Amino acid sequence: MNANDIAGELAGRHIVLGLTGGVAAFKSAEFCRLLTKAGATVQVVMTDSASQFMTPVTMQALSGRPVYCSQWDARPDNNMAHINLSRDADAIVVAPASADFIAQLAQGRANELLALLCLARPIGRAPLLIAPAMNREMWAHPATQRNVRQIAADGAQVLAVASGDQACGEFGDGRMLEAGELFEELIAHLAPKTLVGQHVLVTAGPTFEAIDPVRGITNHSSGKMGFAIARAACEAGADVTLVAGPVHLPTPRGVRRVDVVSARQMHQASVDIARSASVFIATAAVADWRPASEAEHKIKKDGSGEVPQLAFIENPDILAEIAQSPRARAGDLYCVGFAAESENLEANAQAKRARKGVPLLVANIGPATFGRDDNALLLVDDEGVIELSRASKRMLAQQLVAEIAGRVSGAAA
Ligand code: CTP
Repeated sequence: MNANDIAGELAGRHIVLGLTGGVAAFKSAEFCRLLTKAGATVQVVMTDSASQFMTPVTMQALSGRPVYCSQWDARPDNNMAHINLSRDADAIVVAPASADFIAQLAQGRANELLALLCLARPIGRAPLLIAPAMNREMWAHPATQRNVRQIAADGAQVLAVASGDQACGEFGDGRMLEAGELFEELIAHLAPKTLVGQHVLVTAGPTFEAIDPVRGITNHSSGKMGFAIARAACEAGADVTLVAGPVHLPTPRGVRRVDVVSARQMHQASVDIARSASVFIATAAVADWRPASEAEHKIKKDGSGEVPQLAFIENPDILAEIAQSPRARAGDLYCVGFAAESENLEANAQAKRARKGVPLLVANIGPATFGRDDNALLLVDDEGVIELSRASKRMLAQQLVAEIAGRVSGAAA
């Protein structure tokens, strides 16, 4: 996760980062760095045990603020650190959260500043995210599982644990999430939940149409826009399935991914999934044609100078077909098309929207976006044209998801 990708994501946000005792504290140092790079102000609060694993000096240097370790810290004028710290927070993240700390929360105990401020937080205003970190037996213990259920019922969001090698030499569940994963969880938690209850299908990336076992026809689509949309939709609370052509991009957290290669595979997967989807966003650059036949073996140069003659047949138009399905026509499936053009953006987009029969078409200049991290979009629907000016694909995806959510909820109202 690089600094450019996350710049501004948390601008204006104030995060309280709590550390309790655990070897995973080193990941929290990196997490703290990500938070500040994303523009958040970070107030670190550490328990006594946490200081055995990481010094407050390190966390002060990374957060740029003095760390709070004690309820009896005399710095606040009113001497009420637990109140002041919890009132300003947009979110409180405890990472690592030890088994003992979770037990304290479950009982509503307050014998250290961090537990005290969690108890004192306004539950409706300051969300509490807990990132457990412990040995696998401690994690699996019925007492811990009982406590985890209890704090979740009391309003905390308990993040998943990872499985793998543990500091104690054992292997299993209980590892804390990595810094980047914690960051994504926090971003998702803070995102407006505009698509709750929706099942969003996204196609992304290019397709690859085989000529023979070693060659094929593809295009320059990187899949970045579609992946960014899938991520933003998931953060907005949707259940998201991403049908991806051949790209080298990590699956956004929480998104279900189906990998395909050819247009026909993408067509099959999309038609199946669209049966239960409520929104379909077709960002894939699907090959319009494929070789009429795929040679069983590599086509060889025979030295005669003769070149192979390729014949093509048309691929199914996934978007047009799904947009004409009974569910889409009945208004149960909202379809969004993309148009990669090289000129006359608005006129081509209007024509394509009518041809594909979709309520919303998103147009961009293909050669100006393929492979890049930024883009500019034109949204064309019944109401007219909206321009989303040049920005990162991440930001455009968030704006587009908000636009789609407005239209979907408007249709449902
Ligand atoms: N699309 C699709 N299946 C295809 C071709 C395109 O689902 N076989 C979808 C794309 O995912 C996109 C929209 O249709 O959402 C428009 O794609 P684009 O390539 O711009 O348009 P084409 O229909 O191929 O028209 P043309 O290439 O002539 O501009």
